[in-house]
Amino acid sequence: MQGPTRRLIGAACALAALSGTGATAQTRAPAVELPHGGNAPALGQGSWHLAQGRHPAAAEEEALRTGIALGMTLIDTAEIYGQGRAEEMVGRIIAGQRDKVFLVSKVSPGHATATGIRQACAASLARLGTDRLDLYLLHWRGGGVDIGVVVGAFEALRAEGRIRRWGVSNFRVADMEDLFRVRGGDACAANQVRYSLTDRGIEPDLLPWCERHGVPIMAYSPLGSGNDLLRNPALARVAERHVSNPAAVAIAWTLRSGHVISIPESGSAVHVRQNAAALALRLTAEDLGDLDRAFRA
Ligand SMILES: NC(=O)c1ccc[n+]([C@@H]2O[C@H](COP(=O)([O-])OP(=O)(O)OC[C@H]3O[C@@H](n4cnc5c(N)ncnc54)[C@H](OP(=O)(O)O)[C@@H]3O)[C@@H](O)[C@H]2O)c1
Repeated sequence: MQGPTRRLIGAACALAALSGTGATAQTRAPAVELPHGGNAPALGQGSWHLAQGRHPAAAEEEALRTGIALGMTLIDTAEIYGQGRAEEMVGRIIAGQRDKVFLVSKVSPGHATATGIRQACAASLARLGTDRLDLYLLHWRGGGVDIGVVVGAFEALRAEGRIRRWGVSNFRVADMEDLFRVRGGDACAANQVRYSLTDRGIEPDLLPWCERHGVPIMAYSPLGSGNDLLRNPALARVAERHVSNPAAVAIAWTLRSGHVISIPESGSAVHVRQNAAALALRLTAEDLGDLDRAFRA
């Protein structure tokens, strides 16, 4: 697919529930169109540090449930997060509401053989308590990984209905070009990479490459992964202008093109409510200019 044919769907969705203290179900949250049909929720929730004692498990589970109720219905996990414990926690959350969630998991390069991918996928599905993933990613390329074998294994899982789509993570332009040279490689549905106001490294090359080839970027660490991004005064000023909060502004900035999916992580329901406010936030040209001056591209 050539050109920026995807767009933010449901951009004008009503999010009145976000101003209250309770999590009320959303009818329509923004989505990003995927190559070869379908779409994914624009705003999701990460799980890298969950189920590892950073917060009480009950608080983290409440956070994930709150996010789903507020429209952050894409859940990103991986077999390596907490050695499977993050997937198990996600499994407890999606039980009884699997159809509301767009579920993403990742296979590690150490398992990236035809048999290894099949076994890793089966193990992830068991921990998640489901029979299918909406998106399955190769976590990073890793030395010695044969991309043709990975694409073949992903396509076999797709044909069997165990995964709906597949994609990659941490792929640079050269990696994407290698992938697109492989037979069937252009079926890649997303590239999950680090992208935030404090890490704009993909803007000169990977972001436009993915735009041109119709591959959505999934922005990880959109809040800076615990660095000082959220304490930046420019972010605070933009947040004040919108009667919002810095985290929502940082997330809305990653979503601004309508072609990027963003997956902030939080184990706190209070923080998740702040993050979900990004769904209703439209940054103006003035906001974007202020943020450009504060955070160098
Ligand atoms: N593919 C990859 O290689 C890769 C690499 C890294 C991450 N990821 C994915 O991306 C997800 C997010 O990335 P990340 O965890 O590195 O970074 P992040 O989402 O940028 O930041 C997470 C940190 O921000 C805090 N936070 C969240 N909301 C907040 C708020 N409203 N106010 C203040 N602090 C807030 C969280 O603490 P609290 O829990 O206390 O809120 C946590 O410390 C991961 O969970 C994972 O799913 C993928």
